[in-house]
Amino acid sequence: MADTTRTNAIKRIKALRKIIDNYRYEYHVNDKSTMSEAAADSLKHELAKLEQQFPDLITANSPSQRVAGRPLEKFRSVPHKFRMLSLNDVFNNKELSSWYDRVRKLLNDGSDFPVANIRTDDDDAIFFTDVKMDGLACSLIYVDGELNVALTRGDGSVGEDITQNVRTLDSIPLKLFGSNTKYHTGRTEVRGEIVMYKSDFIKLNKQQSFKGLETFKNPRNTAAGTMRQLDSSLVAARNLNFHGYELLRDDPGDVATYSDAYRDLAKLGIKTNHLAKDFSSLDDVKLYIEEWGSKREGLDFMTDGFVVKVNNRKLYQRLGVVGKAPRGAVAFKYPAEEATTKLVDIVIQVGRTGVATPVAVMLPVDVSGSTVQHASLHNQDEIERLGVMIGDTVIIQKAGDIIPKVVRVLTELRDGSEKAYSMKKALDDHDLDFTRATGEVAWRASNLNSPQVLKRGLAHFAAKGALDIDGLGAKNVEALVDADLVKDYADIYKLTYDNLIALDRFAELSTNNLIEAIAIKKKPSLSKFLFGLGIRHVGAQTALDLANR
Ligand code: IVH
Repeated sequence: MADTTRTNAIKRIKALRKIIDNYRYEYHVNDKSTMSEAAADSLKHELAKLEQQFPDLITANSPSQRVAGRPLEKFRSVPHKFRMLSLNDVFNNKELSSWYDRVRKLLNDGSDFPVANIRTDDDDAIFFTDVKMDGLACSLIYVDGELNVALTRGDGSVGEDITQNVRTLDSIPLKLFGSNTKYHTGRTEVRGEIVMYKSDFIKLNKQQSFKGLETFKNPRNTAAGTMRQLDSSLVAARNLNFHGYELLRDDPGDVATYSDAYRDLAKLGIKTNHLAKDFSSLDDVKLYIEEWGSKREGLDFMTDGFVVKVNNRKLYQRLGVVGKAPRGAVAFKYPAEEATTKLVDIVIQVGRTGVATPVAVMLPVDVSGSTVQHASLHNQDEIERLGVMIGDTVIIQKAGDIIPKVVRVLTELRDGSEKAYSMKKALDDHDLDFTRATGEVAWRASNLNSPQVLKRGLAHFAAKGALDIDGLGAKNVEALVDADLVKDYADIYKLTYDNLIALDRFAELSTNNLIEAIAIKKKPSLSKFLFGLGIRHVGAQTALDLANR
């Protein structure tokens, strides 16, 4: 228990604030936990109690002051000292290059532009890129290191004062971390995006459903809607996060580059995205954006592209503004994740466990940068839910990273030539017999030894994650089964040079390679072998658990 004499209280309060601020900093900026949440709560509780005892020791930015205030009548309008701009979009690498060509021209009056001119000195990178978060822009104004006011973007010139709401966000420091830096003197403005993490959004919607309340549409709208609540206790109840992207001082010379800005933001206790990065060549920027095109789905917040900026802020300023957007930065937007195309057929695909799956065959279409022609329709129920007919125009979506999905049928575009599809009939017409166990949606081949099931199963047996046999992909498996050389998995171990060389697909080198590849994988680990067998309900983890046991 803390000593209650005033001098001791002062000391203890100071120490508690320091350790709580440090916990917050490590947690939000470095993704590290210096103690459990329960322990941190216990320290916060002790601090609140001490402050209750000595109310004159309470400061506005003590970590105890993250509590909600009285609901507001309305938000106060406050002009921005520096306008909050938006960004022009580019949609592909060509447009990104054109942007940079314009930048170079403007900075260099059209003549051939030596790269060194765009740097402050030779060590500076030319570009700075960060992922474009889909949330709510927010400006935090610190005076002498203390949070003074927080504003929404508003119309860019005048924002709304949401300080009371912002104070409840644990990821926003009430006092800038560290001490005695230039940022702790005078006015320091931090800008960033308030986002709701996808995981928190899912949790929130689960709670809403549980309470019989309406669910929210998406994390962005929920974050924006929450921050615009006049009652800050509603904000405090939601887990929102602030990620910084801008650091402004009255003297622009205080922050020379965006690389410096991001480094200093982190030091001041503001979370920045770990994938923000500087580059010295536009080709590297393009590669990076391409690389993250698929990986960004794995981030816990919604994104809609990348921001690319001129790293040197003097040059960024010199480039100026057209309309509402700076010339020195652009937003690279990834291609749409939805597209429309015509569904020309539905075929039955037989999986490795014999399950029949209807697959939509479509006219090839580009979605999120790759061509899509097939999408699983899963089962008869899904076909009925979608109400899809052959010949329909459909909307397809890239769900997650790679798996395309038919999400909707545009029945308005039917012209009468569309044909109904019955999975039952397709199965009746199929070479294989299928049965459906009572209570199951899946139709399964009755004969698991049929060549079609064997092909799927063997390809799985040889695939990465299972036996990982080089050169035994779907095409070669098909050739081996069709040639009657393989009737069950074990037959692959009997294959000879003469067997393979006789097939069209094989030449001397590929024959030797495959025989060698099969031989070296003759002693797989038990778990990989079990997984490779393709037993229903035995995935990689279950196989591992079984083998370990
Ligand atoms: S830099 C001129 N970086 O995108 C504004 N903005 O369309 C330059 N945004 O309102 C801001 N993530 O709220 C920047 N990593 C990021 C961003 C980002 C999201 C938002 C920002 C701004 C809008 C511009």
